[in-house]
Amino acid sequence: LTTLALTFSAGSAFADSSSACDAGERIVKFSHVTGGTTHPKVVAANNFADRVNKEMNGKLCVVVYPNSTLFGDSKELEALLLGDVQLLAPSLSKFGSYSPKYGVFDLPFIFKDMDHAIRFTKTPEGKKLLKAMEDNAGFVGLGYWMSGMKYFSANKKLTLPSDAEGLKFRVQTSDVAKSMISAMGASPQAMAFSEVYGALQTGVVDGQENTWSNIYTKKFYEVQDSITETNHQLLAYLFMTSKDFLDSLSPADHDQFMAIADQVTQEANESVKAKEAANRANILKAGGKINTLTEEQRQTWVDTMKPVWKKFDGDIGTDVVNAAAGA
Ligand code: LMR
Repeated sequence: LTTLALTFSAGSAFADSSSACDAGERIVKFSHVTGGTTHPKVVAANNFADRVNKEMNGKLCVVVYPNSTLFGDSKELEALLLGDVQLLAPSLSKFGSYSPKYGVFDLPFIFKDMDHAIRFTKTPEGKKLLKAMEDNAGFVGLGYWMSGMKYFSANKKLTLPSDAEGLKFRVQTSDVAKSMISAMGASPQAMAFSEVYGALQTGVVDGQENTWSNIYTKKFYEVQDSITETNHQLLAYLFMTSKDFLDSLSPADHDQFMAIADQVTQEANESVKAKEAANRANILKAGGKINTLTEEQRQTWVDTMKPVWKKFDGDIGTDVVNAAAGA
């Protein structure tokens, strides 16, 4: 197959995605949960598929299933374990049941910005984490894809953490995120990404935390009063596969596949800041409200949330926390 990346969504004209692959090509399924056309993960996943489908034509055919259409948050890792999918890019906040070490990426205010986080991923400690789930689950990280810094949104304006007292916030399945929300005097509720819009709309939760790209492409701004520019946490993905899949490739195909993965990862991280800035502007254009903080107000958020670090130091490892903070 040499055409552009194949992507399939609900209502797609293709009943069976594999019908677009040539006979004899091995189908490689890539499932993820984000949507829209301007999202950094959507673009990176499609770029990866385009590159493999062109450069490894006749051998592999990568088919991308965005928007939780194949597997959502709760099923995708299990599907990778079972070999029902070969590629994923889940948020690093979703690996709690496989390794607590990824919690380092969730520590509030540990990374000043995405450049800081990228520097950490290039340290020995950061690189080692690509394989933190290899022994217990057979998962292999191919690279880290940055998504953005995170911001709180709610059904009321949040200027200080105390404004969130008593509210319910949707979080990813991350113990660090849960502690952070509790530190604000609010209640965390873990929920799959595909359910967030509905939960905000019906008032099951009052708020959530996410990147500009997710808030824009999932239209959370429509069902939230405002978004506060807290920059409190990073959202990044582990572009990943299984050891079984990699081992099944010939040495030459393995090397070619890995080289494409590296190049696409680098390109994705080089363009992510521009995509986030564009989606911030898209939110404003669509009528969403963004609340900026003074240095003093922001410091209140830091003071409220940073104490959660010490709870996770043991599980994550002081060496890893120090490497991330000092990168
Ligand atoms: C979330 O669940 O909020 C995000 O991890 C979704 C994503 O993949 O960006």
